[in-house]
Amino acid sequence: MTTTTLAPMPTGSPLPTALKGRTVMIIGGSSGIGLAAGALLTSVGARVALVARDPGRLEAALDHLRATPGASALGISADGNDESEVERALDQVGEVDHVLVTAGSISGGALLDTPRDQVAAAVDGRIWGPYGVARAAAPRLPAGGSITLTSGLYLVRPVPGAAASIAGIGAVEALTKALAVELAPRRLRVNAVRYGAIDTPLSRAVMGLADDAAVAAAGQGLLIGRLGTAQEAASAALFLMANNLITGTVLSVDGGQALA
Ligand SMILES: NC(=O)c1ccc[n+]([C@@H]2O[C@H](COP(=O)([O-])OP(=O)(O)OC[C@H]3O[C@@H](n4cnc5c(N)ncnc54)[C@H](OP(=O)(O)O)[C@@H]3O)[C@@H](O)[C@H]2O)c1
Repeated sequence: MTTTTLAPMPTGSPLPTALKGRTVMIIGGSSGIGLAAGALLTSVGARVALVARDPGRLEAALDHLRATPGASALGISADGNDESEVERALDQVGEVDHVLVTAGSISGGALLDTPRDQVAAAVDGRIWGPYGVARAAAPRLPAGGSITLTSGLYLVRPVPGAAASIAGIGAVEALTKALAVELAPRRLRVNAVRYGAIDTPLSRAVMGLADDAAVAAAGQGLLIGRLGTAQEAASAALFLMANNLITGTVLSVDGGQALA
């Protein structure tokens, strides 16, 4: 990749004004943490582009965002693991200042029962998804722009039956630091958020939580006595994209789950 020497990283006021008028693409924006990030960004005056695969869910997410007066939101149906689709989405949006990647899921099975090809797609998505997003976005983002990736607590507190997915999460954190160094000459920043249990459609499905009572019960054993909200989780991503002093950082947002 050829780079030109730029001026130092621009300074700017951090939240709440830093993101006002900026354009943020959220890959994985139609549900859970990504959708909550879209809502928060809309509320601080950012322009938001949601990217996800399912057009129906995307439309519902856009309706949710557009309920905020003055909201500027568009949706693009695309696969975030496909670099050419991400390029198309970026072209469609035009100027983009920050990219947040929340797309991803946990899949697995016990090691001895699960051949590699059964988990390849999930692992590929964790590695080549963010890699392709960074390749597509880096030439387009302005100085001070950022890429924020998503990691998970299972990396440091593994559970049985998810080894391949957890290895994929490890790759996300490795990419975060490597790309922060590589893209620094462009004055781009790369960070990640490592989430503990957050109440979203994904965690409800993975943890088998059928209703709010089950979610509340699941949270009782945690240090703060509950799961995190999607809004709490998303606000950490906004914090990282808004602050030009932060790059190469993996921020844990887990309600202390790493400790107990
Ligand atoms: N919730 C938790 O407790 C927790 C904990 C640790 C880490 N995480 C991580 O945080 C991220 C967000 O989780 P969440 O709970 O918010 O999940 P979620 O509610 O299932 O939302 C995931 C979003 O990503 C989109 N998506 C998935 N694969 C995609 C792809 N290939 N291309 C484009 N969009 C894609 C989904 O829409 P489509 O399916 O329509 O594309 C959806 O909009 C995930 O990476 C997850 O592993 C979550």
